[in-house]
Amino acid sequence: MFDDRSILVTGGTGSFGRSLTRELLTRYEPRRLVILSRDEQKQYRMAQEFSPDEHPALRYFIGDVRDGDRLRRAMDGIDYVVHAAAMKHVPIAEYNPFECIRTNIGGAENVINASIDCGVKRVIALSTDKAANPINLYGATKLASDKCFVAANHLAGPGGTRFSVVRYGNVMGSSGSVVEYFQKLLDEGVRELPITDARMTRFWITLKEGVQFVLDRMAAMSGGELFIPKIPSMRIVDLAEAMGGPHITWKEVGIRPGEKLHEVLLPYDEARNTLEFASHYTVHPAFNWWKREDHQVESGERGRAVQRDFQYRSNTNPWKLTREELLSTLAEGSPAEAALAAVR
Ligand SMILES: NC(=O)c1ccc[n+]([C@@H]2O[C@H](COP(=O)([O-])OP(=O)(O)OC[C@H]3O[C@@H](n4cnc5c(N)ncnc54)[C@H](OP(=O)(O)O)[C@@H]3O)[C@@H](O)[C@H]2O)c1
Repeated sequence: MFDDRSILVTGGTGSFGRSLTRELLTRYEPRRLVILSRDEQKQYRMAQEFSPDEHPALRYFIGDVRDGDRLRRAMDGIDYVVHAAAMKHVPIAEYNPFECIRTNIGGAENVINASIDCGVKRVIALSTDKAANPINLYGATKLASDKCFVAANHLAGPGGTRFSVVRYGNVMGSSGSVVEYFQKLLDEGVRELPITDARMTRFWITLKEGVQFVLDRMAAMSGGELFIPKIPSMRIVDLAEAMGGPHITWKEVGIRPGEKLHEVLLPYDEARNTLEFASHYTVHPAFNWWKREDHQVESGERGRAVQRDFQYRSNTNPWKLTREELLSTLAEGSPAEAALAAVR
Protein backbone atom coordinates (compact mmCIF):
# COMPACT_ATOMS: atom_id res chain seq x y z
CA MET A 1 0.00 0.00 0.00
CA PHE A 2 2.82 2.45 0.80
CA ASP A 3 5.42 1.21 -1.66
CA ASP A 4 6.07 3.65 -4.49
CA ARG A 5 3.56 6.10 -2.96
CA SER A 6 4.14 9.68 -1.81
CA ILE A 7 3.25 10.34 1.81
CA LEU A 8 3.23 13.59 3.78
CA VAL A 9 3.27 13.74 7.57
CA THR A 10 2.35 17.05 9.20
CA GLY A 11 4.12 17.25 12.55
CA GLY A 12 6.57 14.71 11.18
CA THR A 13 9.31 15.64 13.68
CA GLY A 14 7.10 14.89 16.71
CA SER A 15 6.99 11.66 18.71
CA PHE A 16 4.39 10.08 16.46
CA GLY A 17 5.90 11.43 13.23
CA ARG A 18 9.37 10.05 13.98
CA SER A 19 7.95 6.66 14.87
CA LEU A 20 5.85 6.62 11.69
CA THR A 21 8.89 7.63 9.65
CA ARG A 22 10.92 4.75 11.10
CA GLU A 23 8.15 2.29 10.28
CA LEU A 24 7.61 3.56 6.73
CA LEU A 25 11.32 3.55 5.92
CA THR A 26 11.89 0.12 7.47
CA ARG A 27 8.93 -1.77 6.07
CA TYR A 28 8.11 0.03 2.82
CA GLU A 29 9.72 1.80 -0.08
CA PRO A 30 7.83 5.07 -0.40
CA ARG A 31 8.53 7.16 -3.47
CA ARG A 32 8.53 10.32 -1.34
CA LEU A 33 8.12 10.83 2.40
CA VAL A 34 7.63 14.49 3.27
CA ILE A 35 8.13 15.63 6.86
CA LEU A 36 6.35 18.95 7.37
CA SER A 37 6.88 21.03 10.52
CA ARG A 38 8.00 24.51 11.59
CA ASP A 39 11.16 24.21 13.66
CA GLU A 40 14.37 23.75 11.66
CA GLN A 41 16.26 22.48 14.74
CA LYS A 42 13.89 19.54 15.16
CA GLN A 43 14.23 18.77 11.46
CA TYR A 44 18.01 19.07 11.70
CA ARG A 45 18.13 16.62 14.61
CA MET A 46 15.73 14.22 12.91
CA ALA A 47 17.85 14.31 9.74
CA GLN A 48 20.78 13.02 11.81
CA GLU A 49 18.75 9.93 12.64
CA PHE A 50 16.99 9.63 9.27
CA SER A 51 19.25 11.19 6.71
CA PRO A 52 18.09 11.98 3.18
CA ASP A 53 21.44 10.57 1.95
CA GLU A 54 20.55 7.16 3.37
CA HIS A 55 16.85 7.51 2.55
CA PRO A 56 16.53 9.38 -0.76
CA ALA A 57 12.71 9.36 -0.47
CA LEU A 58 12.87 11.70 2.54
CA ARG A 59 12.14 15.41 2.23
CA TYR A 60 12.31 17.83 5.14
CA PHE A 61 9.85 20.61 4.42
CA ILE A 62 9.57 23.64 6.68
CA GLY A 63 5.95 24.73 6.90
CA ASP A 64 3.17 25.74 9.23
CA VAL A 65 -0.28 24.14 9.02
CA ARG A 66 -1.64 27.66 9.53
CA ASP A 67 -0.25 28.52 6.07
CA GLY A 68 -2.52 27.06 3.38
CA ASP A 69 -0.33 28.11 0.42
CA ARG A 70 2.67 26.36 1.89
CA LEU A 71 0.60 23.21 2.49
CA ARG A 72 -0.56 23.24 -1.14
CA ARG A 73 3.06 23.47 -2.26
CA ALA A 74 4.02 20.58 0.04
CA MET A 75 1.14 18.36 -1.07
CA ASP A 76 1.85 18.56 -4.78
CA GLY A 77 1.89 14.94 -6.01
CA ILE A 78 1.13 13.46 -2.55
CA ASP A 79 -1.02 10.29 -2.30
CA TYR A 80 -1.53 10.00 1.47
CA VAL A 81 -1.43 12.50 4.33
CA VAL A 82 -1.14 11.75 8.04
CA HIS A 83 -2.03 14.89 9.98
CA ALA A 84 -0.21 14.76 13.32
CA ALA A 85 0.72 18.45 13.81
CA ALA A 86 -1.01 19.93 16.83
CA MET A 87 -0.67 21.91 20.00
CA LYS A 88 -1.31 19.18 22.57
CA HIS A 89 -0.47 20.44 26.05
CA VAL A 90 -3.65 21.04 28.06
CA PRO A 91 -2.39 23.88 30.33
CA ILE A 92 -0.66 25.70 27.43
CA ALA A 93 -3.84 25.51 25.37
CA GLU A 94 -5.89 26.83 28.33
CA TYR A 95 -3.59 29.85 28.64
CA ASN A 96 -3.19 30.48 24.87
CA PRO A 97 -6.62 29.55 23.48
CA PHE A 98 -6.44 31.43 20.17
CA GLU A 99 -3.03 29.97 19.32
CA CYS A 100 -4.39 26.48 19.91
CA ILE A 101 -7.50 27.23 17.83
CA ARG A 102 -5.35 28.55 14.96
CA THR A 103 -3.17 25.45 14.87
CA ASN A 104 -5.66 22.71 15.69
CA ILE A 105 -8.79 24.01 13.93
CA GLY A 106 -7.38 26.48 11.37
CA GLY A 107 -4.67 23.92 10.59
CA ALA A 108 -7.33 21.24 10.05
CA GLU A 109 -9.16 23.49 7.58
CA ASN A 110 -5.94 24.18 5.66
CA VAL A 111 -4.96 20.49 5.55
CA ILE A 112 -8.43 19.61 4.24
CA ASN A 113 -8.45 22.30 1.54
CA ALA A 114 -4.89 21.60 0.40
CA SER A 115 -5.57 17.84 0.28
CA ILE A 116 -8.63 18.34 -1.91
CA ASP A 117 -6.92 20.91 -4.15
CA CYS A 118 -3.89 18.65 -4.66
CA GLY A 119 -5.88 15.47 -5.31
CA VAL A 120 -4.55 13.60 -2.26
CA LYS A 121 -6.21 10.17 -2.10
CA ARG A 122 -6.46 9.52 1.64
CA VAL A 123 -5.98 11.56 4.79
CA ILE A 124 -5.91 10.35 8.39
CA ALA A 125 -6.04 12.95 11.15
CA LEU A 126 -4.93 12.06 14.67
CA SER A 127 -7.36 12.72 17.50
CA THR A 128 -7.25 12.14 21.25
CA ASP A 129 -9.47 10.85 24.03
CA LYS A 130 -9.56 14.44 25.29
CA ALA A 131 -11.80 15.22 22.28
CA ALA A 132 -14.55 12.93 23.62
CA ASN A 133 -16.86 14.94 25.92
CA PRO A 134 -14.16 17.63 26.11
CA ILE A 135 -13.70 19.76 29.22
CA ASN A 136 -10.54 21.58 28.14
CA LEU A 137 -9.72 23.78 25.16
CA TYR A 138 -7.24 21.30 23.67
CA GLY A 139 -9.92 18.59 23.64
CA ALA A 140 -12.51 21.00 22.27
CA THR A 141 -10.22 22.02 19.38
CA LYS A 142 -9.49 18.38 18.58
CA LEU A 143 -13.23 17.60 18.59
CA ALA A 144 -13.80 20.50 16.18
CA SER A 145 -10.94 19.19 14.04
CA ASP A 146 -12.43 15.66 14.05
CA LYS A 147 -15.79 17.04 12.91
CA CYS A 148 -14.09 19.04 10.13
CA PHE A 149 -12.26 15.95 8.84
CA VAL A 150 -15.42 13.82 8.84
CA ALA A 151 -17.40 16.58 7.07
CA ALA A 152 -14.55 17.10 4.58
CA ASN A 153 -15.77 13.99 2.75
CA HIS A 154 -18.75 16.12 1.67
CA LEU A 155 -16.47 18.85 0.33
CA ALA A 156 -14.35 16.41 -1.63
CA GLY A 157 -17.39 14.75 -3.22
CA PRO A 158 -17.58 11.28 -4.75
CA GLY A 159 -14.25 10.04 -6.02
CA GLY A 160 -12.41 12.84 -4.22
CA THR A 161 -10.07 12.82 -1.23
CA ARG A 162 -11.19 10.48 1.58
CA PHE A 163 -10.74 11.68 5.17
CA SER A 164 -10.89 9.61 8.38
CA VAL A 165 -9.87 10.11 11.99
CA VAL A 166 -7.95 7.91 14.42
CA ARG A 167 -8.58 8.58 18.11
CA TYR A 168 -6.60 7.07 20.96
CA GLY A 169 -5.42 7.79 24.52
CA ASN A 170 -2.12 8.58 26.23
CA VAL A 171 0.89 7.58 24.20
CA MET A 172 3.52 6.07 26.39
CA GLY A 173 6.90 7.65 25.83
CA SER A 174 5.66 10.51 23.62
CA SER A 175 7.11 13.95 24.29
CA GLY A 176 5.64 15.41 27.49
CA SER A 177 4.14 12.07 28.59
CA VAL A 178 3.79 11.08 32.23
CA VAL A 179 6.40 8.35 31.68
CA GLU A 180 8.92 10.97 30.56
CA TYR A 181 8.01 13.16 33.55
CA PHE A 182 8.29 10.40 36.15
CA GLN A 183 11.57 9.23 34.64
CA LYS A 184 13.03 12.74 34.83
CA LEU A 185 12.09 12.96 38.52
CA LEU A 186 13.54 9.50 39.23
CA ASP A 187 16.76 10.45 37.42
CA GLU A 188 16.98 13.54 39.64
CA GLY A 189 16.77 11.28 42.71
CA VAL A 190 13.19 12.17 43.72
CA ARG A 191 11.86 9.45 46.06
CA GLU A 192 8.23 10.61 46.26
CA LEU A 193 6.41 10.87 42.93
CA PRO A 194 3.57 13.41 42.54
CA ILE A 195 0.18 11.88 41.71
CA THR A 196 -2.67 14.21 40.81
CA ASP A 197 -5.34 11.87 42.21
CA ALA A 198 -4.91 8.32 43.41
CA ARG A 199 -8.08 7.26 41.59
CA MET A 200 -6.94 8.60 38.20
CA THR A 201 -6.93 6.17 35.23
CA ARG A 202 -5.74 6.61 31.66
CA PHE A 203 -5.86 4.69 28.39
CA TRP A 204 -2.45 3.52 27.33
CA ILE A 205 -0.93 2.87 23.90
CA THR A 206 2.67 2.60 22.70
CA LEU A 207 3.94 4.72 19.82
CA LYS A 208 4.51 1.56 17.81
CA GLU A 209 0.93 0.39 18.31
CA GLY A 210 -0.39 3.85 17.46
CA VAL A 211 1.62 3.94 14.23
CA GLN A 212 0.55 0.43 13.25
CA PHE A 213 -3.09 1.27 13.89
CA VAL A 214 -2.87 4.38 11.70
CA LEU A 215 -1.25 2.44 8.85
CA ASP A 216 -3.85 -0.35 9.10
CA ARG A 217 -6.74 2.10 9.12
CA MET A 218 -5.25 4.09 6.23
CA ALA A 219 -5.39 0.87 4.20
CA ALA A 220 -8.95 -0.02 5.32
CA MET A 221 -10.70 3.39 5.43
CA SER A 222 -13.61 4.37 3.22
CA GLY A 223 -13.71 7.99 4.44
CA GLY A 224 -15.77 9.48 7.29
CA GLU A 225 -14.95 6.90 9.98
CA LEU A 226 -13.58 7.67 13.42
CA PHE A 227 -11.46 4.69 14.39
CA ILE A 228 -10.72 3.84 18.05
CA PRO A 229 -8.31 1.01 18.89
CA LYS A 230 -9.01 -1.40 21.74
CA ILE A 231 -6.27 -0.57 24.23
CA PRO A 232 -5.64 -1.20 27.93
CA SER A 233 -6.08 1.19 30.84
CA MET A 234 -3.83 1.76 33.81
CA ARG A 235 -3.98 3.56 37.13
CA ILE A 236 -1.41 6.35 37.33
CA VAL A 237 -0.53 5.10 40.81
CA ASP A 238 0.31 1.66 39.37
CA LEU A 239 2.54 3.32 36.78
CA ALA A 240 4.39 5.32 39.47
CA GLU A 241 4.89 2.18 41.58
CA ALA A 242 6.00 0.12 38.58
CA MET A 243 8.51 2.77 37.44
CA GLY A 244 9.74 3.69 40.92
CA GLY A 245 10.19 0.21 42.28
CA PRO A 246 9.68 -0.87 45.91
CA HIS A 247 11.51 2.08 47.55
CA ILE A 248 9.46 4.85 45.95
CA THR A 249 6.40 6.47 47.55
CA TRP A 250 3.91 8.90 46.05
CA LYS A 251 1.86 11.87 47.22
CA GLU A 252 -1.36 13.39 45.90
CA VAL A 253 -0.90 16.90 44.48
CA GLY A 254 -4.41 17.54 43.15
CA ILE A 255 -5.95 17.45 39.72
CA ARG A 256 -4.74 20.15 37.28
CA PRO A 257 -7.01 22.65 35.49
CA GLY A 258 -8.69 21.04 32.49
CA GLU A 259 -7.82 17.49 33.57
CA LYS A 260 -10.33 14.65 33.92
CA LEU A 261 -10.21 11.95 36.55
CA HIS A 262 -10.91 9.30 33.90
CA GLU A 263 -10.78 9.59 30.11
CA VAL A 264 -13.44 8.60 27.58
CA LEU A 265 -12.63 7.35 24.09
CA LEU A 266 -16.20 6.70 23.02
CA PRO A 267 -19.02 8.63 24.68
CA TYR A 268 -22.40 7.07 25.38
CA ASP A 269 -24.14 9.12 22.68
CA GLU A 270 -21.84 7.88 19.93
CA ALA A 271 -22.67 4.24 20.67
CA ARG A 272 -25.60 4.24 18.27
CA ASN A 273 -23.27 4.92 15.34
CA THR A 274 -20.55 2.50 16.44
CA LEU A 275 -19.49 -0.89 15.17
CA GLU A 276 -17.15 -3.21 17.03
CA PHE A 277 -14.34 -5.09 15.25
CA ALA A 278 -11.77 -7.47 16.73
CA SER A 279 -9.11 -4.79 17.18
CA HIS A 280 -11.12 -1.58 17.31
CA TYR A 281 -14.36 0.38 17.26
CA THR A 282 -15.51 2.41 14.26
CA VAL A 283 -17.81 5.37 14.75
CA HIS A 284 -19.71 6.04 11.53
CA PRO A 285 -20.73 9.53 10.45
CA ALA A 286 -24.40 10.39 10.72
CA PHE A 287 -24.65 11.36 7.02
CA ASN A 288 -27.51 10.34 4.77
CA TRP A 289 -25.14 9.41 1.96
CA TRP A 290 -23.31 6.98 4.23
CA LYS A 291 -24.39 3.54 2.99
CA ARG A 292 -24.24 1.65 6.23
CA GLU A 293 -24.55 -1.81 4.67
CA ASP A 294 -21.50 -1.10 2.48
CA HIS A 295 -19.50 0.10 5.41
CA GLN A 296 -20.18 -2.70 7.87
CA VAL A 297 -17.25 -4.68 6.53
CA GLU A 298 -13.63 -3.61 6.99
CA SER A 299 -10.81 -5.69 5.50
CA GLY A 300 -13.18 -8.67 5.19
CA GLU A 301 -14.41 -8.45 8.80
CA ARG A 302 -18.06 -7.64 9.50
CA GLY A 303 -18.55 -5.20 12.38
CA ARG A 304 -21.10 -5.76 15.14
CA ALA A 305 -23.24 -2.97 16.59
CA VAL A 306 -22.27 -2.17 20.18
CA GLN A 307 -24.93 -2.08 22.90
CA ARG A 308 -26.90 1.17 22.87
CA ASP A 309 -25.60 2.24 26.27
CA PHE A 310 -21.98 1.32 25.53
CA GLN A 311 -19.23 3.70 26.64
CA TYR A 312 -15.49 3.20 26.34
CA ARG A 313 -13.99 4.71 29.50
CA SER A 314 -10.57 4.30 31.08
CA ASN A 315 -12.03 3.41 34.52
CA THR A 316 -14.57 0.81 33.31
CA ASN A 317 -12.38 -0.67 30.56
CA PRO A 318 -12.12 -4.37 31.49
CA TRP A 319 -8.58 -4.51 30.04
CA LYS A 320 -6.34 -3.22 32.88
CA LEU A 321 -2.58 -3.52 32.83
CA THR A 322 -0.86 -5.35 35.69
CA ARG A 323 2.51 -4.13 37.02
CA GLU A 324 4.31 -6.82 35.01
CA GLU A 325 2.45 -5.90 31.83
CA LEU A 326 3.24 -2.24 32.44
CA LEU A 327 6.93 -2.98 32.73
CA SER A 328 7.05 -5.17 29.66
CA THR A 329 5.07 -2.58 27.67
CA LEU A 330 7.51 0.08 28.82
CA ALA A 331 10.35 -2.09 27.58
CA GLU A 332 8.82 -2.32 24.12
CA GLY A 333 8.04 1.39 23.84
CA SER A 334 11.33 3.12 23.12
CA PRO A 335 15.05 2.72 23.85
CA ALA A 336 14.74 5.03 26.89
CA GLU A 337 11.89 2.96 28.24
CA ALA A 338 13.75 -0.25 27.52
CA ALA A 339 16.69 1.02 29.56
CA LEU A 340 14.31 1.98 32.31
CA ALA A 341 12.65 -1.43 32.38
CA ALA A 342 16.01 -3.21 32.30
CA VAL A 343 17.03 -1.73 35.67
CA ARG A 344 13.81 -2.72 37.43
N1 LIG B 1 1.15 12.21 22.69
C1 LIG B 1 -0.02 11.73 23.11
O1 LIG B 1 -0.15 11.23 24.24
C2 LIG B 1 -1.21 11.80 22.18
C3 LIG B 1 -2.37 11.09 22.53
C4 LIG B 1 -3.46 11.13 21.66
C5 LIG B 1 -3.38 11.87 20.50
N2 LIG B 1 -2.25 12.58 20.19
C6 LIG B 1 -2.22 13.35 18.96
O2 LIG B 1 -1.21 12.82 18.15
C7 LIG B 1 -0.63 13.86 17.35
C8 LIG B 1 0.89 13.80 17.43
O3 LIG B 1 1.27 13.94 18.78
P1 LIG B 1 2.81 13.89 19.21
O4 LIG B 1 2.85 13.28 20.55
O5 LIG B 1 3.64 13.34 18.10
O6 LIG B 1 3.10 15.46 19.35
P2 LIG B 1 4.51 16.20 19.44
O7 LIG B 1 5.59 15.26 19.79
O8 LIG B 1 4.28 17.41 20.29
O9 LIG B 1 4.76 16.68 17.94
C9 LIG B 1 4.00 17.70 17.36
C10 LIG B 1 4.52 17.95 15.96
O10 LIG B 1 3.72 18.93 15.34
C11 LIG B 1 4.57 19.97 14.82
N3 LIG B 1 3.78 21.19 14.83
C12 LIG B 1 3.25 21.83 15.89
N4 LIG B 1 2.61 22.92 15.48
C13 LIG B 1 2.72 22.96 14.12
C14 LIG B 1 2.26 23.83 13.12
N5 LIG B 1 1.53 24.93 13.42
N6 LIG B 1 2.55 23.56 11.83
C15 LIG B 1 3.29 22.46 11.49
N7 LIG B 1 3.74 21.61 12.41
C16 LIG B 1 3.46 21.86 13.70
C17 LIG B 1 5.78 19.96 15.73
O11 LIG B 1 6.94 20.48 15.13
P3 LIG B 1 7.28 22.06 15.12
O12 LIG B 1 7.08 22.53 16.52
O13 LIG B 1 8.68 22.12 14.65
O14 LIG B 1 6.35 22.69 14.15
C18 LIG B 1 5.95 18.45 15.91
O15 LIG B 1 6.58 17.92 14.76
C19 LIG B 1 -1.27 15.15 17.80
O16 LIG B 1 -2.29 15.49 16.90
C20 LIG B 1 -1.87 14.82 19.15
O17 LIG B 1 -3.02 15.61 19.40
C21 LIG B 1 -1.16 12.53 21.01
